Amino acid sequence: MVGIEDRGYQFSDGVYEVCEVRGGRLIDERRHLLRLVRSLDELRIPMPMSQAALAIVMRECIRRNRVSNGILYLQITRGVARRDHGFPPPGTRPSIVVSARNIDFAGNERAAADGIAVITVPDNRWARVDIKSISLLPNVLAKQAAREQGAKEAWFVNGDGHVTEGSSSNAWIVTKAGKVVTRPADNAILRGITRTVLIDVIRAQGLELEERPFTAAEAYGAREAFLTSASQVVMPVVRVDDRPIGNGAPGSVATALRAEFHRHAEWS
Ligand code: PDD
Repeated sequence: MVGIEDRGYQFSDGVYEVCEVRGGRLIDERRHLLRLVRSLDELRIPMPMSQAALAIVMRECIRRNRVSNGILYLQITRGVARRDHGFPPPGTRPSIVVSARNIDFAGNERAAADGIAVITVPDNRWARVDIKSISLLPNVLAKQAAREQGAKEAWFVNGDGHVTEGSSSNAWIVTKAGKVVTRPADNAILRGITRTVLIDVIRAQGLELEERPFTAAEAYGAREAFLTSASQVVMPVVRVDDRPIGNGAPGSVATALRAEFHRHAEWS
């Protein structure tokens, strides 16, 4: 049951996490829970149960739904209370929802072998997208615009002309000189857990990383492009705004990073 006056339902007043499940195991659970606690703290929503209890609930959810390869979704809202914009009375219990489902990993592998297209859209989001809030209207509209143009993701471009991130992923390019570039994790992007782990993979492979903003024009002329998220891992991007990237096929750097990712991630 969801209360009709749940703060998430009425105000998008909540936060969420998405973890990859692989072989029945959670990927990077520790980092996802750290980010969850940070999002809750930023919005002053109390944690509804201990982290140890939450870890048990997450495992039970995976088991009861018989998820071997898929995702676990976790959402916490400020709870159910009579509608009023200010915070509800002290003691209002936050609502928590955990769900898990299988996803077609083979389909993801096929998409990664072909690469995907992205479009760019203006970044019209609020100034705190570093908080993983469930308030995702601009992201919803951006993803739909991508689909209607035959693309799989939309990259937000801010007022300076820089790509911030995707509607549900972080954005990366590989320059002609072979440098791997992604925007620094400031308030203008969500610090992806996949992004954090991938930085370790990049260093381990001896690749050069540049954390700096890049423009859509730089992406058009890049050797490679790709995106990262818990559900897509590392997904090669072969078209941006209908311009082929590199030779129009998945790049060797993105492909190698995808292949190596799970050796560097934490399994639990
Ligand atoms: N999205 N940026 C945005 C706006 C996101 O929504 C996500 C994740 C990321 C990547 O974060 P991570 O690597 O921790 O998944 C970046 C999730 C998967 C979603 O909304 O389904």
